[in-house]
Amino acid sequence: MGVQPAPSTIVIFGASGDLAQRKLVPALHSLACDDLLPGRVRIVGVARSEFSDEEFREHLYRGIEAYARHEPRTCQMWSGLSDAYTYLVGAYDDPETYRRLRERLDELDAAVGTGAEIGDGGPSNRLFYLAVPPSVYEPIIEHLGASGLNRGGGGDSGQRWARIVIEKPFGYDYESARALNERVHRAFEEDQVLRIDHYLGKETVQNILAFRFANAIFEPLWNRQYVDHVQISVAETVVVGRRGGYYESAGVLRDMFQNHLLQLLSLMAMEPPAALNANALRDEKVKVLQAVRPPRTEDVVLGQYAGYLGEEGVKPESKVPTYAAVRLYIDNWRWQGVPFYLQSGKGLASQVSEITLQFKRVPHLLFPESASPMPNRLVICIQPDEAIQLRFEIKQPGSGMRTAPADMAFAYSERFGDAALPEAYERLLLDALQGDASLFARADEIELAWNLIDPIAELGTPHRYDVGTWGPDEATRLIAAEGCSWAYGCADAPSVAKRDAGDEVSLG
Ligand code: BG6
Repeated sequence: MGVQPAPSTIVIFGASGDLAQRKLVPALHSLACDDLLPGRVRIVGVARSEFSDEEFREHLYRGIEAYARHEPRTCQMWSGLSDAYTYLVGAYDDPETYRRLRERLDELDAAVGTGAEIGDGGPSNRLFYLAVPPSVYEPIIEHLGASGLNRGGGGDSGQRWARIVIEKPFGYDYESARALNERVHRAFEEDQVLRIDHYLGKETVQNILAFRFANAIFEPLWNRQYVDHVQISVAETVVVGRRGGYYESAGVLRDMFQNHLLQLLSLMAMEPPAALNANALRDEKVKVLQAVRPPRTEDVVLGQYAGYLGEEGVKPESKVPTYAAVRLYIDNWRWQGVPFYLQSGKGLASQVSEITLQFKRVPHLLFPESASPMPNRLVICIQPDEAIQLRFEIKQPGSGMRTAPADMAFAYSERFGDAALPEAYERLLLDALQGDASLFARADEIELAWNLIDPIAELGTPHRYDVGTWGPDEATRLIAAEGCSWAYGCADAPSVAKRDAGDEVSLG
């Protein structure tokens, strides 16, 4: 991570909710512990629930105790930082809320000098974070625009910035995402907008870039000449639990594929950008999405776990998929004819996210005693046991020439220790404060992704699967059709943790 960002005020809409308590504030705490938060940061929580400043701080502290990477007993930043948090009760669609917010921000600037003291007397830098359900994105954005809070300031110098962070889901489909982008752009320039995909904040996801572009030995193999197929699996043991209401309007394709899985696909498939900046990087990801062939019905398997219909908030006849497997092709020179198999689901056998690049088999079998040598595989374990493994064949000791598979493996925890990996939200909040949009989705990226997902989001009745399995049998058949099978190279790792539905975050 880089240097401390400039003094700023963060305004969290939806501050009384889950996301703020479990992710955002613990992340800010850990950034402060690592000395990465601006000294004069102020945080204003805005939400509808009644809280005094004191109650708000206590509520946040419980989140820090439970979820922060740096536990408060080892890093005692909270006593110094808690005063930086204040709370403002207000309805998101009431202009009065924004008048009072502006007043609060001006008072804070005057009191702590986040604006005047550091320059020309203008307002402080302001980061607006929408940790609210999507139904209130539009009123908040419009009111921020109407009240002038959308503008950076700094008197005549224009040095102060205002940015907005928007959580997922960004839209429900292509049309709604386009409409939302339009609304956003009425109040904010694109370079003020940071659309969150928390997978991009994960260290192992960023490491895809380092692995591909900081090494010369893999890139020559990273194409249709050598790669047989690619698998991207994001498997969750958790079930939908108390998120039934939200999930009914989403399903796995909108909840996971449109964003996280297509981001992983883009990073795996993109061309090397000329530089590591937000536009160069996102230009390359956009080119991948433009080249993805729209999947046909036969490229998609949808599943629903047995018991989903009994979850709170789920319609008795619901056909919402909780699992999907999708075969995609990328129509460009690098990837023509190479299938990318993507799968994700809830209630599966293991909590594991991984990417497998399976290489082609050797063209000629030299060792007849080894009936069928396993093809080489590169496996990127994204979570929970962050690692990279390369599988290759070796000679088994003894007479004759019999081969067996072996692994070369790198594990983050062995190399850097257990606490080394920052939480995704730490990285994303820091980048947002620093104005680096590389790990945030651009308007066109979001719309292209929806374009791919819209036609397959609802394809009739999903296949039933039992909780604790790897999804419906049809998904095994989808990949078996081309002689492959799902890999699960990271799921075997001994410390794969099981989480419960309590780990789910909902927007407040
Ligand atoms: C969220 C989805 O975006 O990602 C959830 O809405 C899902 O349904 C979560 O559980 C998975 O994130 P992670 O970081 O736990 O893999």
